[in-house]
Amino acid sequence: MLSSEIRDKFLKFFESKGHKVVPSSPLVPEGDSSVLFTTAGMQQFKPYYLGKESPYGKNVASVQKCVRTSDIDEVGDESHLTFFEMLGNFSFGGYWKKEAIEYAHEFITREMGLKIDYVSVFAGEPGVPEDKESAEIWKSIDSSLEIRKAGREDNFWGPTGEEGPCGPTTEIYVNGIEIWNIVFNEFYCNRDKSLKPLDIKGIDTGMGLERLTMVSQNVSNLFETDLFPSHPKTREEGIVADHSRAINALLEEGLIPSNKDQGYVLRRLMRRVLLYKNRYQLEIPVESEVFKQESNKFDETLEAGLKKLKEGEDPFVLFTSYGFPVELIKELGVEVDEKDFAEKFKQHKEISRAGAEQKFKGGLAGHGEMEVKLHTATHLLHQALHDVLGDEVMQKGSNITPERLRFDFSFQRKLTEEEKKKVEEIVNEKISEALPVNKAVMPKAEAEKIGARHFFDQKYPEEVSVYSIGDYSKEFCGGPHVNSTAELGHFRITNEESSSAGVRRIKAVLE
Ligand code: ALA
Repeated sequence: MLSSEIRDKFLKFFESKGHKVVPSSPLVPEGDSSVLFTTAGMQQFKPYYLGKESPYGKNVASVQKCVRTSDIDEVGDESHLTFFEMLGNFSFGGYWKKEAIEYAHEFITREMGLKIDYVSVFAGEPGVPEDKESAEIWKSIDSSLEIRKAGREDNFWGPTGEEGPCGPTTEIYVNGIEIWNIVFNEFYCNRDKSLKPLDIKGIDTGMGLERLTMVSQNVSNLFETDLFPSHPKTREEGIVADHSRAINALLEEGLIPSNKDQGYVLRRLMRRVLLYKNRYQLEIPVESEVFKQESNKFDETLEAGLKKLKEGEDPFVLFTSYGFPVELIKELGVEVDEKDFAEKFKQHKEISRAGAEQKFKGGLAGHGEMEVKLHTATHLLHQALHDVLGDEVMQKGSNITPERLRFDFSFQRKLTEEEKKKVEEIVNEKISEALPVNKAVMPKAEAEKIGARHFFDQKYPEEVSVYSIGDYSKEFCGGPHVNSTAELGHFRITNEESSSAGVRRIKAVLE
């Protein structure tokens, strides 16, 4: 069966079972800055698992484009990709385990005519019981079916990002590979990783189109399916074929390569294929001006990097500053101290990870009462700094603990005592006015038009939430905040210092 037929069959099947077919959402998720890419079909439906009414009804199905970089090192083997399409059916309080398992069984065996090797169910752990119900349902459908049990590693899924719906899973294996993951969303995973039962139970399923096509076409490798018409043979050809699909899909959404976030991933994917192109003389199936420019830039970088290496530069600096992967550095005939490199790499990753986490949280390390108050106070401080120091002030960073807020902003000199006092006075005045704090969701362009403040260089989705504090402050923000500034108490700046060139850092408390 052709992959296009499988897509149709899947959607028609679930349509016939009362599901509304919903189009794929973009690869760069809208309104969810906690993840870089859409990695699962359920992502666009996250709010409906949490009680928000779904405009599509309770049961939906989709074919979702996904980018997952977590498996990047395995790409080139027979079954891993960075870009793939996920077939999924979902229910937000509509149906539960029995229907979900029966639908999956019917689709795989009757519609696709495939034989299930075995299925797996959640084995249980302290706080989350063994999923005996699913095992019973499978047995009632086919008493000869092998049912394996596995723990959290294999049979528990979610959340995407830092918090969200999650739950035990049952998985279907065909020809030795996992093709369908059926998640029973019955918990909400908090940021501190604790689980709380959800009010509404939900179904979230995901089946890789490429893997299903592979077993349906009875080939032993994804790259032999009709989804990869060039049928790459070697590992390197497979990597190029996979990455090129990801690159094309990301370019199609208007993403451009850059040094951060999604753009950085795109750049890494491009550089990897360019590297293989040079080394193995491979054709890259990407037709795009942006890619051509990146290719030229990479050539220049390569040249500059080579020069640096010849001058004895630390290979690790080549990696961080020029994006040279270690494999390339070695290939250039440079000796690399692997242990030293690995150690530096570990430190580098720690720093980047901590930075990224902080940013996605809007500087918020937690959602405790004090942190939420200090977060609202940060918005007041941001606006007050603007009022006192002028338009030069732009947010460069924010970090909040239960004890204090820290706010970094662009400004060329130390603040005077009067300026600091003035800022404090304004913030305390706004607190005493008991201003209401409100959230509105609007298109990014509109938020910019009304002058909502934002992080100076962050890429925002097309739709953003804006928090306003009375008429005084408006800011792009994911929240949460207090309802009224009356809750904040007294604001005091405890410290003002330089953070880096042209950037000042203020620490302040509420008391
Ligand atoms: N959301 C589940 C997954 O991605 C179905 O595997």
